[in-house]
This record gives sequence, structure tokens and C-alpha cells, in this order.
Amino acid sequence: FRRLYSQLWPQSGRSPFGIAFDIDGVLIRGGDPVGGSPLALRRLYGDDGILKVPYIFLTNGGGVPESKRASELSSLLGVQISPLQVVQGHAPFRDLVCRFENELVVAVGKGEPVEVMLEYGFKKVLSIDEYASFFKDIDPLSHYKSWSVKQTHEMKSTVKESYSSYNVHLDAVKGTFIVSDPVDWGRDIQVLCDILSCGGVPGRHQPALYFASDDLEYQTAFLSERLGMGAFRIALESIFNSVNNNPLQYTSFGKPNPVVFKNAEVVLTQVASNLCGDKVSLGCSNVNQFSTIYMIGDNPMVDIQGAAKAGRPWFSILTRTGVFKGKQNHENFPADSVSSNSAL
Ligand code: G3P
Ligand code: MG
Repeated sequence: FRRLYSQLWPQSGRSPFGIAFDIDGVLIRGGDPVGGSPLALRRLYGDDGILKVPYIFLTNGGGVPESKRASELSSLLGVQISPLQVVQGHAPFRDLVCRFENELVVAVGKGEPVEVMLEYGFKKVLSIDEYASFFKDIDPLSHYKSWSVKQTHEMKSTVKESYSSYNVHLDAVKGTFIVSDPVDWGRDIQVLCDILSCGGVPGRHQPALYFASDDLEYQTAFLSERLGMGAFRIALESIFNSVNNNPLQYTSFGKPNPVVFKNAEVVLTQVASNLCGDKVSLGCSNVNQFSTIYMIGDNPMVDIQGAAKAGRPWFSILTRTGVFKGKQNHENFPADSVSSNSAL
């Protein structure tokens, strides 16, 4: 990138390319930077510390609001990152707010799924922990679990004030959102089957179900890949379909969905416009025309397939820091280029 940067950028007054970095398995593994990622990012800033090349993080992960993720990433990677630059798997949920304006929705997953939904504009959100706590004995295995789930009175819920008036039945929920990787698969599958079967009330429609992503596996601190949200989806779908007559209906977002790549182009354009500020006269008028957008990812099925499906101006770079560990290119989803890490 340093070569591209010096060859192309200074003459035109604006960066002709943008970059979308995958996070898990490219920049971070577990909680630590990987493959010289802080160095790679620092190269995108000038000596004055000002960002010169528009880039975003395009991750299927999530579970915390973008503002919080931006500050976590800033301290981990040593550069100043704005919330606008963070595009997480659950970003498309924002566009669903109007569909659930006055409806009760349940948010599932690690981290702060309720806070994510509130920041997007949802009004009546319960975490699956909160929801389950309304039903005594809903999880027959809870006594065997070494962790404890917060009780309703301790919870920081959106609908806290109206708990007593809230009519939380098994058929009250109108939308279920898998925001991030579910923590307690057994309990969550049981409770989601209850909600999605409308408590067994005949004739009722299944509430809507959305997954932020569909990664079968992803790379974290452990040596080999770990099961992701796609694996949870397979488990839920298979069990739901075994105990119900109608097959489970759902929508999955995240890479490799082309919608995600289209949205990434829009966000990169906004980042580029912010960089240009009032420098339109310096050649910044065409910020929305990237000659190339680099997708730097570790997962051939997700990152590389997604960039290939999105077509021009996307160009994929597959790193060997995560899910992909091959010597050559990937056989089924070959990248435009393969690199040992993100800093080369
Ligand atoms: O849970 C995170 C995982 O599914 C993938 O994250 O950054 O590799 O797209 P990322
Ligand atoms: Mg990854």
C-alpha cells in the first residue's frame, strides 16, 4: 500500500482507492493484534497523524455499539478510528427499525445486544436473558449452570419502567435479532424455539428472525477455527424444523451478502468525503469514484467470495493470518492476491 499510495495519491489530491479490513483473523486474533496490523494501519496516516487513505472495518462480528467498538479498536491498534469506519454484521438491522417501531423485539448474543439495538433506534428491546427471566423453569438445565443470569429487577432494559404493564407472553415478540454469537446455545435454542413457534398458538405467524451474519467458522485465539453464528443458525434451524411443521423462516446478513458490500462502498465514500473536507478544489470532487476497493480478509468463503460477487471496483486480498492457512490460493474461492499478513 505504501507503493500504491506514493504512486497514485499525491498527484490526484485524493486517494484513488479505499480499503475494507476484516477484523477477526486479519487484524485481531482473540484480543490481540495479529500480523503487524498496527503498522499496516499507521501507513494509512500521514506524518501529521491525519488519515490519508479512506478505510473501514468490514466485520461479521459485533455485539457492541459502533462508538464503543471504535474506541476499543483505537486503543488496541494505536490509531484514531471513528464510529463511521466500523461496519459490523448487525449494521443492516438499522434499516429494519421502522418495521418494528412499536413492537417488542428480542436481542440475542454476547456483549451488549440491547444497547446495539437501542442505538439503531429500536424502542422496545429485551435481551434473551431478560425475556427468559419472565418464565419460571423455561430452562430445565439452569440449575446445572455455573454462571448466573441476571434477574429482571437487576436488568438495564429499555422497557424497565413498564415491566409490570408489559404483556410478555410467548407470542408477544414480533422480531428476534441474533446480534452476535449466542453465549448459551442450549438455553437460547430452547427459548428461540418457544418464541418462533408462538408458544404453540395455532394459526399464528412465525415472528421475524434475523441473523447478523452466517459465518460457519471464524478465527479467534485458538489454533483452529471456532464455530460461528452460521453454525448456531444450522443448529437452531435443524431443531426448529424437527419440532415444527413449518420450516423456519429467516434472513441472514453479513459478508458474503452483496448488500453488505454495496453498503460498504457508501460508507467508504462518506469516509472519503470527510477526509476531503473543503478540499474539493484539490481534486476531491469524485470521492465516490474509487478505482479500486481492497477487501482484505482471512475467510475465502466469506470475505473473498463476497468481494468476487460484488465485482468492480472490489479487489480481494486473502491473508494467511486466520481461517485460510493454505500455501497457494484457495481452490474454490480464489482471491485476486494472497498475502501472509495485512502489513505487507
Ligand atoms: O464473530 C466474528 C466472526 O464471525 C467474523 O468476524 O471480522 O472475521 O468478519 P470477521
Ligand atoms: Mg475474519
